[in-house]
Amino acid sequence: MTDQTRDAWGSQLGFILAATGSAVGLGHIWRFPYVAGENGGAAFVLLYIGSVFLIGLPILLVELTLGRHSHRDPVGAIKAIAGQSGWKYLGYLGVASGVFILSFYTVVAGWTFGYLFKTLIGDLTPFGAFSNNALLNGGLYLAFLLMTVGVVYGGISGGIEKWSKILMPILPVILIAIIIYGLTLDGAGAGVSFYLKPDFSRISTDTVLVALGQAFFANSLGMGAMVTYGSYLKDSDNIPGSGLSVVLFGLLISFLAGFAIFPAVFAMGASPAEGPQLVFVVLPQIFASMPGGVLVGFAFFLILTIAALTSTISMMEVPVAFLIDEKKMVRKTAVWVVAGVTVLFGIPSALSFGGSAFFTDLPFLPEAWSVDSFFDIMDYIFGNVALPVGGFFFAVFLGWRWGIDEAIAEIAKGNQSFLGIKSKVWGVLVKYVCPIIIVIVLLNAMGIISF
Ligand code: PHE
Repeated sequence: MTDQTRDAWGSQLGFILAATGSAVGLGHIWRFPYVAGENGGAAFVLLYIGSVFLIGLPILLVELTLGRHSHRDPVGAIKAIAGQSGWKYLGYLGVASGVFILSFYTVVAGWTFGYLFKTLIGDLTPFGAFSNNALLNGGLYLAFLLMTVGVVYGGISGGIEKWSKILMPILPVILIAIIIYGLTLDGAGAGVSFYLKPDFSRISTDTVLVALGQAFFANSLGMGAMVTYGSYLKDSDNIPGSGLSVVLFGLLISFLAGFAIFPAVFAMGASPAEGPQLVFVVLPQIFASMPGGVLVGFAFFLILTIAALTSTISMMEVPVAFLIDEKKMVRKTAVWVVAGVTVLFGIPSALSFGGSAFFTDLPFLPEAWSVDSFFDIMDYIFGNVALPVGGFFFAVFLGWRWGIDEAIAEIAKGNQSFLGIKSKVWGVLVKYVCPIIIVIVLLNAMGIISF
């Protein structure tokens, strides 16, 4: 495909909203509260904020710059700089992570979609009885995957951009309504202090890995989604400005989501360490008790469905762009190929919550592990480990193989004010700080070094 016919964003705002749409999703509203709950609350929140600014934002700029420089998928972006060298496997890692993350993420997205109807008809079946229904979960899974297929089919400006622009801005409004109600509940105060008063004794080695992993996951980093989105940018677009908006909006949404959930968790006498079902167990109880709750609940799950959709489309776009750019497939075929592979890994994940006894409690995993289902394994490997590993190599690739000065020149095409101190700080972060911290955290989590 020549660059004249390659897709591009219609406008910079459209790009910002689409990139924000990719970033803001279940990672903020579903994953952030539950991992914060399992990892000690406020102390985790502080570690998370640190990881976002020190590592997330610099690597977001790395990915966007690599993408715009080459106007290619992650594999093509690397080949454009390093040719046929081994670096191309970094691109393949990204493409594979895209498929795997899409496979399990769509399970939770399917729940959101199901809860949309559940709330509307006032069905109060508890989460456990909902998630162990194999047929229902399989069906919701396929329905959500098909919606993703539908948007990615439409391409960049006609599909992804159009949808992101309409719906992203409504999300914070709904969250604020839930927060206001939640704070009026008896016992909400304990949730507020759990969320805002750090207790550092709760921080363990694993906490640091989880905070770092979350910084990657929530900002869609480490698998080339932002390389791919960056590849549809024009030279005049402002990469640092857009990157900062994406990160800040994401932090705002995560912060609000925690504020919506924890007061309610404590008021309902639930445990903040409930795990992946936290949002689905606690919020419906709130909606059931609040005046106008059906409407608020419906609005909440609608927005969450859309936030999830703007993220699944970015995951699918990575392998799709790869098949289009590198394998010369037409978009429509590429979309179906990716959907087919996703289903293979996705169905076991969808059956990991009681739908199948085997996938729910994999017999070969040690009892002592907190990871026990097929879904847990996927979430742990691709949520916590694969993305930081990918991010490490993207930083090293840009900083040491391509060259910071070339990258800064690329960024400056659309933002002259980046030259000077900002670019110097970024250079140091990308070449030294990010790779070193990521390696330390990973080695530490693997038990190879300890403090
Ligand atoms: N950032 C998305 C979210 O928070 C998830 C995601 C991860 C999207 C990786 C793309 C790539 O929900």
